[in-house]
Amino acid sequence: MIPYVPLGRRPFRLHMGLRPLEPSRWFEFDDDAAAVLSLRARLIEDERARVVALEPAGRAPSAELLAVVLGHLGRFHPERVAPVGDDHPLVEAARLVEEDLCLMVREDAWRLRAAVVCFPSRWDLREKIGATLREIHGPVPGYEAALGDPVDAFFERIDVGRAYWRLNWTLLETPELFVPDAARAAPGGDLADWYFRVERQTFTRLPETGAVVFTIRTYVAAATELARADPEFVGALSDQMASAPPAVQAYKGWVGLAERLDPRRRASSRPDP
Ligand code: HEM
Repeated sequence: MIPYVPLGRRPFRLHMGLRPLEPSRWFEFDDDAAAVLSLRARLIEDERARVVALEPAGRAPSAELLAVVLGHLGRFHPERVAPVGDDHPLVEAARLVEEDLCLMVREDAWRLRAAVVCFPSRWDLREKIGATLREIHGPVPGYEAALGDPVDAFFERIDVGRAYWRLNWTLLETPELFVPDAARAAPGGDLADWYFRVERQTFTRLPETGAVVFTIRTYVAAATELARADPEFVGALSDQMASAPPAVQAYKGWVGLAERLDPRRRASSRPDP
């Protein structure tokens, strides 16, 4: 079972949903850690051009991050401290944790300057490296209007020692973790074919370089499993998808899914004779 199922009870809206992060909770390890770390190692080996993106401006923050990660693991997860190899420091840091790691550097705007993302949800790291927060979110309908300024302002005020986290979710038709294809075909079939995918994201400022570390932890569960565990899951899922604006439904691949889940919705959305 996954630890977060962030389906709000109010209608869907794009929002920041930031909460203060307890320092001990930066990284989460669970029973699948060995499998996730070996999948990550394999992807770094076999798909390096798609999962690792490093620019010179990310070098110093990467070295700082590796040292900070080792310090953090030593304090909160001593059993996870492992010998560090001689790859790029960001790649070495990413081999130690289940989270994907991105470094945002403040230049003319906040730009993505180094990243190891093995578990993207239908986006391609090669298209995002070097981009600003606004450029990265270009394909997200409504981002510019609802989140463009607030996210930029948030990055300015993340203080050293005060980190934050948020959750994001979507549906995919696969339980696989490495899903780089930008094509956004709607999940086919119905509940039995869908996987609920949650990203737990954290934001932390590094004290020396001032870069912001953005971590993404990806959790996936079969939708039927969540429906069995919580009788309200299907209704909440269907309400969220139906209440999202049409452009968001199209972006997320949700068009028509709420109606498939809930026959009453199908009846009520039928045009009058
Ligand atoms: C408070 C900060 C942030 C907020 C509120 C935010 C919000 C969002 C939202 C609402 C989406 C739409 C996806 C969905 O709902 O499933 C999204 C997509 C995305 N975000 Fe963020 N985001 C933030 C920071 C970042 C950062 C720092 C990165 C750096 C790598 C990033 C990378 C992405 C990418 C790559 C996508 C997918 C875009 C695509 O489809 O091409 N986000 N974000």
